[in-house]
Amino acid sequence: MNTRLSTSPELTRRSFLKTTTTLAAAASLAPGVFAAGDDTLKVALIGCGGRGSGAADQALSTTGPLKLVAMADAFKDRLDGSYNNLKAAHADRVDVAEENKFIGFDAYRHAIAMADVVILATPPGFRPSHFEEAVRQGKHIFMEKPVAVDGPGVRKVLAAAEEAKKKNLKVAVGLQRHHQKPYLETIKRLHDGDIGDIVAMRAYWNGDGVWVRPRKDLEQKLGRTPTEMEYQMYNWYYFVWLCGDHINEQHIHNLDVINWVKQDHPKLARGMGGRQVRKGIDNGEIFDHHFVEFEYPDGTRLSSQCRHIPGCWDSVSEHVQGTKGLCDVSGYNITGEKAWHFTGDEGKDPYQQEHDDLFAAIRNDTPYAETAEYGAYSTMTAIMGRMATYCGKELTWDDAINSQIDTFPKVLGWDAKTPTEPDANGRYAIAIPGKTKSF
Ligand SMILES: NC(=O)c1ccc[n+]([C@@H]2O[C@H](COP(=O)([O-])OP(=O)(O)OC[C@H]3O[C@@H](n4cnc5c(N)ncnc54)[C@H](O)[C@@H]3O)[C@@H](O)[C@H]2O)c1
Repeated sequence: MNTRLSTSPELTRRSFLKTTTTLAAAASLAPGVFAAGDDTLKVALIGCGGRGSGAADQALSTTGPLKLVAMADAFKDRLDGSYNNLKAAHADRVDVAEENKFIGFDAYRHAIAMADVVILATPPGFRPSHFEEAVRQGKHIFMEKPVAVDGPGVRKVLAAAEEAKKKNLKVAVGLQRHHQKPYLETIKRLHDGDIGDIVAMRAYWNGDGVWVRPRKDLEQKLGRTPTEMEYQMYNWYYFVWLCGDHINEQHIHNLDVINWVKQDHPKLARGMGGRQVRKGIDNGEIFDHHFVEFEYPDGTRLSSQCRHIPGCWDSVSEHVQGTKGLCDVSGYNITGEKAWHFTGDEGKDPYQQEHDDLFAAIRNDTPYAETAEYGAYSTMTAIMGRMATYCGKELTWDDAINSQIDTFPKVLGWDAKTPTEPDANGRYAIAIPGKTKSF
């Protein structure tokens, strides 16, 4: 697989317009119309952590005959815990024999081989190679966001997404707001021109931060000193090659909403960020705040903030200013000439709805592949933001997506060299704007 594909203008400027319509159509198809032959769908879970286990639970809660037949994780205890919980919740539908529980870096290949549908929910650094392999093996796919952590990874996902279309594979990405009724209605109103022409956008993921998995806890668990690879895999959120920084891991949701509203992605990013309070020994190399001004091809600008600092102003939201009104997108509210507020039934939990929609598309063979593209573009938007805050320079979309900086290890293995290594004090190099070339 060539990970150095150049990106065609057609790919870089693809419209996202039709996606919502396609998803809504898939959701409305009558259940019970199955393909000929054995209609039991075999599912494999790759990455049995919090979200993977949740996604498997949601897949197992969809309509129609279905079984979880294989599981894969880097760590045995994660797989065992997930298996026990899923078995307790879905005794009849969890049918994973001991020999179909796979552990380690190569586990994904074996689990994928056993299934019709695969759930990819490892840390995002692995997503491009796992997605590529699932497509190569001809499987339908649910993959969590973000779908990559760097330009080469996004290009690999876009290339595999093209292959998936040719093979008529259904692909869903865990950007669940696209399956959330009030979001769908709000964004439809924006596309219908209810606030006039859009002139400015704001997006925030400001909160306290996320879990830390200390090295000493892993040492206690293993009863020996962990290798550096074991430690980084365990505490993955804090390493760029695995996580992509929190702008990629979490703020992607808000950036994705703005791309959806704009039906496009930015052409430029200018940003600043750093580590003001995230200075613990287990805080790896990521920043605790990023501010990015993204510019879209029509000249409109998105002001984007994401912060992981306790005790500050918190907000996870998106807002859009138009010539005839203002929309609080995440509040499902418009003020102005066509004032409106979403009322009524908010529909199903979007995490369940996204699985209902995917499995309906698989069983009814309706088109369902564009999500990989908007997932890749939204991921690339977040990565471009990180690149801009790390290097401090103005970045174009083409520079960012065509970046040759591949953060993934050359060799995978518990003793293999990690892309970033600690100094004698256990500290990692942190990006310095103005000096860092860029990730
Ligand atoms: N859509 C959402 O709202 C949402 C919410 C939470 C998490 N997520 C996404 O889900 C993904 C996983 O997050 P999480 O919270 O479940 O993390 P987690 O740490 O709980 O789980 C990740 C699991 O993947 C396993 N793993 C790591 N590398 C692997 C490999 N190469 N092969 C097989 N298994 C491997 C880990 O051991 C762990 O069990 C992330 O991309 C995250 O952004 C999405």
